[in-house]
Amino acid sequence: MLTRRTLLKSTLAAGAYAGGLGLAGYFGGIASAKAAMPLVARRTEALITDKGPTKGAMTYGEAEIPPVLRMRRGELFNLRLDNQLDEPTTIHWHGLRIDNRMDGVPFLTQPYVYGGDGFDYAFTPPDAGTFWYHPHCNTLEQMGRGLAGLVVVEDPADPVFDAEIVLNLRDWRLGGDGQFIAQFRPRDAARAGTFGTVRTANWRREPQYDAPAGGLVRLRLAATDVTRILALVVDGAAAEVIAADGNPVAERFALDHLLVGPGQRLDLVLRMPDGEGAVAVLKDLRGTKPATLATFRATGASLKRDIRDLPALAANPMAEPDLSAATQLPFILSASAEERPKDGICGSLGYNFWAINKVPWADDTGDPTAPLAEMKTGRTYVFNVENPTPQAHPLHLHGLAFRPMNSNKQAVRPHFTDTYLILPDEKVQLALVADNPGDWVFHCHIIEHQKTGMTSYVRVA
Ligand code: C2O
Ligand code: CU
Repeated sequence: MLTRRTLLKSTLAAGAYAGGLGLAGYFGGIASAKAAMPLVARRTEALITDKGPTKGAMTYGEAEIPPVLRMRRGELFNLRLDNQLDEPTTIHWHGLRIDNRMDGVPFLTQPYVYGGDGFDYAFTPPDAGTFWYHPHCNTLEQMGRGLAGLVVVEDPADPVFDAEIVLNLRDWRLGGDGQFIAQFRPRDAARAGTFGTVRTANWRREPQYDAPAGGLVRLRLAATDVTRILALVVDGAAAEVIAADGNPVAERFALDHLLVGPGQRLDLVLRMPDGEGAVAVLKDLRGTKPATLATFRATGASLKRDIRDLPALAANPMAEPDLSAATQLPFILSASAEERPKDGICGSLGYNFWAINKVPWADDTGDPTAPLAEMKTGRTYVFNVENPTPQAHPLHLHGLAFRPMNSNKQAVRPHFTDTYLILPDEKVQLALVADNPGDWVFHCHIIEHQKTGMTSYVRVA
């Protein structure tokens, strides 16, 4: 059990780290440590619909929409969160395999960052790729109102593209007047989740981007919505998947109705059409009617690139699971109807609909149960996950990367990932090396599922 006392201890440890203890090591005593980049979390008005500004949105930074945070693999990144909201928040770095104290989960890895307070995040990303950041506190409300941005970790060895476009794909729960409506309906939380009413890319409806005709464009996209699973296609141009969830795929493949769940990312290479003004369109075909997410318009004389000339991305430094010495761990997803207190500390939804191994934890009550599994540092584990529920669940594990192996339902692509979309009635094996010590949350990224019980954590020590 995580008691109040261990909580206090980890609070102090996080404070000491934030105070700069970790940085001395990185800089080896060099005095000119670069100052932490400030990032405010604040209320704003957002221009999403043509009904005028949407009031009560939340964003990061000074611009209207949360900035794309650019980092370099193997280089210290240093950011000071300045909470100008009137409620606690934190930042979780989704997919980054960093120090547990920087993981941004209140009660488990750090204290709340109260309104008016700040917190220093400092870490060195080990992997290049497309990731994202968001709060782990009153998550449905804070993410629903805007707090989600992308992280790009660059590698000097990355191939050069003719253009790069970053897309933050998400919906908004807005009424006909363009103002926020309730983030969820309990009966939907117990099913697929409550869907947004307005779809956007980078907070705009069907934005259009220019890119060189006949050029190779790197499209980095993240599904940051709290509910919606996408089935993506590109019309009007060849598009291939080059990386998924931050990790290069072993073999590139054409994008064709690929399911992308909340929390997942895709890196695509788009070969723009040759004719000036010709367009390629990114669409989601999963909803009741196809939705255009963004359009790319060819400009200038064709660069006449060949998509086959694109070099492969370098693999990230993942430890290879040793399946001959693996420990099997069962995880069974289920519905739950257990009572729980309705007075959570930061944004409890007040219901228990879901559970992992029969234990519902909403992770906002300050009262986590014991870890669902304890793993030894450096050993291989296989998560045997079963989903006998009628819903798909994008399962996300913090701090570690796993490789999906056998599934009874889908052909799994054997690349490392942090988020696996498990389908109804699916059984899948996820293999990993427990190489990052700490308490790591394991949860569904449909936030209503997460916040009504489909959350737990595992311990690596
Ligand atoms: Cu995207 Cu627990 O997080
Ligand atoms: Cu779920």
